[in-house]
Amino acid sequence: MKKLYIETLGCQMNKSDSERIAGILSHFGYIETQNEKDADLYIINTCSIRQLSADKAYSQLGVWGKIKRNRPDIKIAICGCVAQQDKSLIKKRAPYVDLIFGTHNIYELPELIKRVNSGEKVCAITNNPVVCDQNDFKISRKNSVNAWIPIIEGCNNFCTYCIVPFTRGRERSRKPDEIIREAKNIIKEGFKEITLLGQNVDSYGKDFQEENITLANLLRELNKIEGDFRIRFVTSYPSDITDDLIKAVDECDKVCKYFHIPMQSGNSRILKEMNRRYTKEQYYEIVSKIRKRFPDCSITSDFIAGFPSETEEEFIDTLNAMEELELDYSNTAAYSPREYTKAAKMTDKFIDEDTKYKRLERLNEKNREVCLKSNEKFTGKTLKVLVEDKTEKDGKIILNSRADNNKIVHFEDETKNIGDFVNVKITKAQTWCLYGETV
Ligand code: SAH
Ligand code: SF4
Ligand code: F3S
Repeated sequence: MKKLYIETLGCQMNKSDSERIAGILSHFGYIETQNEKDADLYIINTCSIRQLSADKAYSQLGVWGKIKRNRPDIKIAICGCVAQQDKSLIKKRAPYVDLIFGTHNIYELPELIKRVNSGEKVCAITNNPVVCDQNDFKISRKNSVNAWIPIIEGCNNFCTYCIVPFTRGRERSRKPDEIIREAKNIIKEGFKEITLLGQNVDSYGKDFQEENITLANLLRELNKIEGDFRIRFVTSYPSDITDDLIKAVDECDKVCKYFHIPMQSGNSRILKEMNRRYTKEQYYEIVSKIRKRFPDCSITSDFIAGFPSETEEEFIDTLNAMEELELDYSNTAAYSPREYTKAAKMTDKFIDEDTKYKRLERLNEKNREVCLKSNEKFTGKTLKVLVEDKTEKDGKIILNSRADNNKIVHFEDETKNIGDFVNVKITKAQTWCLYGETV
């Protein structure tokens, strides 16, 4: 048995890929270790959404490079979005790396590892991905309650700030039968939640001939699987959310009333500069349509502060949007120029770092304010939660759970376990979580 240590940066798609990488390698005698000191194979699965995430990859490689000086037999691999984008830079900055593989080369790993172990330095980056039958290999799932299932990979949108279309390629959907088969296996294994993943889940099926292959219909099919479990899907592109999707979410009792719909900016001119295909008004309409149908749902978003040419007034539109839309939570980030993207060429319109980070801080402040308000709406209400794990605090066991609408709920109940669905009455709201007691 050889030991494998994987570090995963970035989004859920990367986390899901890492589970698949570990699963594939388990067929070839690799067992995962949490001990960074004594592995035989080190893999970093990287993210390049912002410069900061890309930098993290290189500093991790640096740490492992030092280990390799004392233990020259260890192998170091890098994969994910930085690898896909930047093989020559990796070779220059970290020449001790043994294997570079791209986001489309995961299923070639058996062959790649064989070559690495025979002493070769290997680089495998493909730009024309094929959709592989992902059911041939084991998947080493990290979480015993929630299972990620990628349904569509890649992105055709080319938002002007974003690297993803360059690192993940064009949209490719997995076949519905394959997804349903994976879901059935997961439920049989005892998982309680399925999260369907895609950079743009609403585009699911658009690359197939058959018109009835849509996210809405996929949800309907998955909802028919017997068992006590729930279904989520992320991420939705605002203007791609169809009425049929909203209808399907309503019809399907297992589908959570939760939508992650990144708005990015509350100003229509900036949205246009970002190449987002909706205006501020259209986004407001989508949110109001969803809220009308599902009053207790939650809607979360992403925002970027300091996109090139953003004025103070335009930034204030973003703060107002967060507040007016009563968003339940938002991921926030300062704009980071990415190579190859259109916005990175607007250098004369870049916002200075000081203004950008001050805006980010104001965005975070507004986020905290609206999150608390959103959480306070739930005090006194009963939410159905799924227990995800347990922690001990002051000698007491606290159950950490998530409601159907994705709110984090902590409560105490010695009779409940990880994987249980529980009705919890909310007694206290804080900025990032709720507290309650079993009904
Ligand atoms: N597909 C999703 C987003 C995927 S990337 C969507 O379309 O909404 C996750 C988030 O990272 C984005 O929503 C955006 O807010 C942020 N992001 C992407 N590129 C960025 C950049 N260059 N600088 C700062 N934040 C960025
Ligand atoms: Fe990036 Fe835009 Fe695609 Fe989302 S939709 S992954 S932000 S290009
Ligand atoms: Fe990062 Fe790639 Fe995901 S850039 S956010 S790991 S798709």
